[in-house]
Amino acid sequence: MLTDKRILLVIGGGIAAFKSLELIRRLRERGAWVTPVLTKAGEEFVTPLSVSSLAGEKVYRDLFDLTDEAEMGHIQLSRSADLIVVAPTTADLMAKMAHGLANDLASTLLLATDTQVLAAPAMNVRMWEHSATRRNAAILRDDGVAFVGPNDGAMACGEYGLGRMSEPLEIITAIESELADGPLTGRRILVTSGPTHEPIDPVRYLANRSSGKQGSAIARALAIMGAEVIFVTGPANATRPEGVHLVEVETAAQMMDAVKSVLPVDAAIFAAAVADWCVTSPSDSKMKKDSGKIPSMTFAENPDILASVSQMGDGRPALVVGFAAETDEVVANATAKRLRKGCDWIVANDVNLETGIMGGCENAVTLISDDGLESWPRMGKDAVAQQLAARIAAALN
Ligand code: CTP
Repeated sequence: MLTDKRILLVIGGGIAAFKSLELIRRLRERGAWVTPVLTKAGEEFVTPLSVSSLAGEKVYRDLFDLTDEAEMGHIQLSRSADLIVVAPTTADLMAKMAHGLANDLASTLLLATDTQVLAAPAMNVRMWEHSATRRNAAILRDDGVAFVGPNDGAMACGEYGLGRMSEPLEIITAIESELADGPLTGRRILVTSGPTHEPIDPVRYLANRSSGKQGSAIARALAIMGAEVIFVTGPANATRPEGVHLVEVETAAQMMDAVKSVLPVDAAIFAAAVADWCVTSPSDSKMKKDSGKIPSMTFAENPDILASVSQMGDGRPALVVGFAAETDEVVANATAKRLRKGCDWIVANDVNLETGIMGGCENAVTLISDDGLESWPRMGKDAVAQQLAARIAAALN
């Protein structure tokens, strides 16, 4: 599936650059064309000659190389590829990418491109865990950059932990999934996920048990099928899906604003467990116990995001899918909820604590639509997500 795909491979300056030589060989074996770009620091680890020999193509190194500009300007170079792979992505390259620096050929290409970028980070574990790198990774994910790795293990610097670059075959798998021409290619899909937190004071909030696992799995499954996914999530524990536009929010009101700002979309999947109420006037400072007095609070109803998107006129997504987390009369309540909110489908599940579904890894859902009810057997949340994504693809095509 990589035959005749064009990969622009940016090789950063890290010891893991030696693995990029094997990556080039493996890509060539699979029929891909590799245009290599070597940073100055990268040249300290692998030679331009070995890179160009393996790639069978000229290696690009310098922004100010006028011959290159005459042959192929950096803008064209950045856009002629099907995918840009940055391997290794050093902490320095990540910082440049996250902040839009363009002071050498690699960073300029990455800023000028409108092609999907896949980053394979490689750095010392402390550098990977540093809050600056965490922030940069979050910015890049938000910008739609996909990541593969880093892996856990022993490092060249003698330390042990997260920071090793993924192995060439793992990077190939990630490249294949980025390039997969799926049934949802060209579709823009919104997924909400996770709980919302409604502040009581600076340290306390109202929340629920949602882990965000089902929403993350749905976003991942849709992205793998080629959709452009906008993933709006509350503060969930679940691993963020790769290859999606990530929007992190805290409250229901923020989720509503985020959803409005990303419309229009072809489909909207509302998997978030949005809090129904917020505290009307959260305290600015921590509420103190006051000699046995019980505090009183007033609540206001949060905006119903699913209902407002389902009921919008112009610009309504072609398909709106809600979730119904119920503890009693699951199907009857979910059926009524679908009609009340006006969504096309509702995915009902039983969230009684003994089912282990809320926060767990499995789900047992009933899909309710104009066509009636369909109960799916209990299965992993990833499997539910894949099945639902396949249904969404069929409905949109
Ligand atoms: N939902 C939403 N905005 C809200 C509340 C819910 O978008 N303020 C969405 C959820 O993402 C889900 C669906 O509505 O897709 C149903 O959520 P649920 O909590 O089951 O329903 P509620 O409307 O809150 O009804 P109730 O709590 O009374 O069962």
